[in-house]
Amino acid sequence: MFDMLIRNANLPDGRQGIDIAIKNGKIIELARSIQAQAGTEIDAKGYLVSPPFVDSHFHMDAALSLGQPRLNQSGTLLEGIELWGELKPHLTVESIKQRALEMCRWSIARGTLFIRSHVDICDDRLLAVEALLAVKEEMKPYIDLQLVAFPQDGFFRYSRSQDNLLRALDKGVDVVGGIPHFERTMDEGTRSVRVLCEIAERRGLQVDMHCDESDDPLSRHIETLTSETRRLGLEGRVTGSHLTSMHSMDNYYVSKLLPLMRESNIHVIANPLINITLQGRHDSYPKRRGMTRVPELLNAGINVAFGHDCVMDPWYSMGTHDMLEVANMGLHVAQMTSVKGMQQAFDAVTYNGAKAMGLKGYGLEPGCNADLVILQAANPIEAIQLKANRLFVIKKGELIARSSVQEHYLKLSDGEEQQVSFSKGLF
Ligand code: FE2
Repeated sequence: MFDMLIRNANLPDGRQGIDIAIKNGKIIELARSIQAQAGTEIDAKGYLVSPPFVDSHFHMDAALSLGQPRLNQSGTLLEGIELWGELKPHLTVESIKQRALEMCRWSIARGTLFIRSHVDICDDRLLAVEALLAVKEEMKPYIDLQLVAFPQDGFFRYSRSQDNLLRALDKGVDVVGGIPHFERTMDEGTRSVRVLCEIAERRGLQVDMHCDESDDPLSRHIETLTSETRRLGLEGRVTGSHLTSMHSMDNYYVSKLLPLMRESNIHVIANPLINITLQGRHDSYPKRRGMTRVPELLNAGINVAFGHDCVMDPWYSMGTHDMLEVANMGLHVAQMTSVKGMQQAFDAVTYNGAKAMGLKGYGLEPGCNADLVILQAANPIEAIQLKANRLFVIKKGELIARSSVQEHYLKLSDGEEQQVSFSKGLF
């Protein structure tokens, strides 16, 4: 007797007609026609059953603060930072918590159950740290929230960053962050990468830096991040987020850089929704897309995930924390239109994000946690095409969200109702 049986599922790897048996929060068996009973049975009806979406790059402390105190007029990263700075003195633990909890409810409904959120530590009161640690605890049954100590105003540029960052880590923040391209000089950026990696090494933590989020082809802090990773033996535990300057770099230099990144086993997180809107703002025409070189990174054997980064905050006015929207935009911006490319875009918001976050027990194999999403689509490509409805969201074997099947009908002149299906059964 199992706790839950999901019947007739399509899996992201192409397996079809699979039953998934769950007990004590774990996947016990995946096979065709499992002869057993369960407390709960769900008929997946040939729809895709995937591990939950992973947002490996997010800012939950700023989410849903759009318009406070005003909107971003230039649309640039720098005005976003300025705006957030204006709001900071007015923040309270309670206001951050309320917005974050609302955000988590959106995330759960969208099947996004693993989130790495950066939390700004350039506020000596560490209010956002306090608020997000409380949210992490409160949301534990539903969402695994990993926090990154993020010096938004610069590690050296803001004088008390070092002290605040260490205090945040002492309080339980999980990962060491940074923002080398925002330091006063290239040299200070380089030094910040070095010092932050040393802190991570001493404390046995992961690193995830906002790195080279700029259109400046000479912003090359990824080079230092890569070499520090190797010097300190942090291979596999370090992520370079954004890396948009790679878009504008000289091709020769990139051909030297990619093998070095591979050698250091660096993870990369691109944020397509944000960087297609923030980058290229100083260009006339042609305007650069500004996203990092995703297909080239993947071809070099580097793990690339996609993050949402922002939802309705000083940097981005849109979004509902739908990782399929992220995959869809990523696929377009990076021109990942081959079948393999489209599948990779799905992986970038699921498996690759899990890898970057170092998640244990993620996936669809016996022994993995029974964390699942049933989508109203037959396969990963169709899921991206349709931004498919999340029919059921399951965490550790418990149903935590559901929605109705979406159907569309036309009323044409002959009076008959006609159903429209956007699914073509390809792939
Ligand atoms: Fe970010």
